[in-house]
Amino acid sequence: MKTYAQMSQEERRAEYAALQKEFQGWKDRGLSLNMARGKPGKAQLDLVSDIFSLMQKPEDYVSDGIDVRNYGEMSGLPAAKRLFAEILDCQPEQVFVGGNASLQLMFDTISKAYTHGLLHSPRPWRLEETVRWLCPAPGYDRHFKITEFFGFELITIPMTETGPDMDMVEKHAKDPTVKGIWCVPKYSNPDGVIYSEDTIRRFANLNAAAPDFTIMWDNAYCIHEFEGDYVPFPDILSLCAEAGHPDMVFEFASTSKVTLPGAGVSCFACSEANMAHMSNLLTPQVISFDKVNQQRHVLYLQNKAHTLELMKKHAAIMGPKFRTVLDALDREIAPLNIASWKRPKGGYFVSFNAMPGTARRTWELCREAGVTMTGAGATFPYGKDPQDSNIRLAPSLPPVEELKQAISIFCLCLKMSALEKLGV
Ligand SMILES: Cc1ncc(COP(=O)(O)O)c(C=O)c1O
Repeated sequence: MKTYAQMSQEERRAEYAALQKEFQGWKDRGLSLNMARGKPGKAQLDLVSDIFSLMQKPEDYVSDGIDVRNYGEMSGLPAAKRLFAEILDCQPEQVFVGGNASLQLMFDTISKAYTHGLLHSPRPWRLEETVRWLCPAPGYDRHFKITEFFGFELITIPMTETGPDMDMVEKHAKDPTVKGIWCVPKYSNPDGVIYSEDTIRRFANLNAAAPDFTIMWDNAYCIHEFEGDYVPFPDILSLCAEAGHPDMVFEFASTSKVTLPGAGVSCFACSEANMAHMSNLLTPQVISFDKVNQQRHVLYLQNKAHTLELMKKHAAIMGPKFRTVLDALDREIAPLNIASWKRPKGGYFVSFNAMPGTARRTWELCREAGVTMTGAGATFPYGKDPQDSNIRLAPSLPPVEELKQAISIFCLCLKMSALEKLGV
């Protein structure tokens, strides 16, 4: 079989005409399929919905002698701190348990740095002439949006197989206007990369010029294997402390993709000195977060081992979806030599690199045929992929039968845009 580059123009034209016919056939079916965002599918939501049958007895409202229905315990229920600490392999006193979304805690951390400054800030970041921020890319669009929202200058750091390019991180961290970096250290969004031990060690030992340089360590996929066993992961808090930088990192996690997105529980973990500083800044803002939901999660998830059992059940639903996508790509696209993609074992995405200059066109064609994809460019700062190549596939939401259709259409659109680029 010839690759598209090996075909003569005439052969490419014939192939394009055949694909156009197929494309029209899909369009005529008026489908509406969605591979845009990393949302759990209905089967996963059903899987965890017995969480609502908990808390029927009066004693279920009491945790460590605390009535969870009342105000108090701003930094979270002690039992919820113990649960997250066990999952993240840190200490309960390093954990602040918040509301329904870790993204909100991330936004709030940056917001507090902006208005009041972090523990080691010489001044609030709003008073800095320029704040620069490191953004490993492809990365998570909502991270980039937060730092863009506060007017920071975003600097792209290329992602590698072992995490962000650490030579570049170390180089930029010498600039005192560079105040921090976004990281998704396990099953990164979208590449699905697990940072290597060397990368993690280099982060912990980073000698940043800014005294308040902050690593935003978003461990959103810390227990989210869909293939194979749970992969243990080093605790960044103790590594930073050992390296003499205990206050350089804030870690984040949530149960959004363990129980219910938007109705789960989130946390941040940090040094005790940072905890004291952040607690002071949070006191005027909130009396306490939703401890009823925290308690519901403590009763439901119980401990790390029990939570990992639940994650295996999610994996049994997620695994076949990822295999559907990867099998279709192997079958339809691999022989044509027009793209490359990652093979993650956890997380929520497949990171796909189309032929440079064709991602946006592929996205448009997909939309025309009824498939919603994450916007091309979304995985780069300011939504601009300089290569117009990366596309984030999110296979979790549609049932397998719909996913089969969606990925067929994606492959078709990809072929059409590659042929257009090569000349038809
Ligand atoms: C890396 C990453 N962080 C955070 C989130 C959102 O988490 P939460 O629901 O806790 O705000 C997502 C959701 O896709 C994500 O991919």
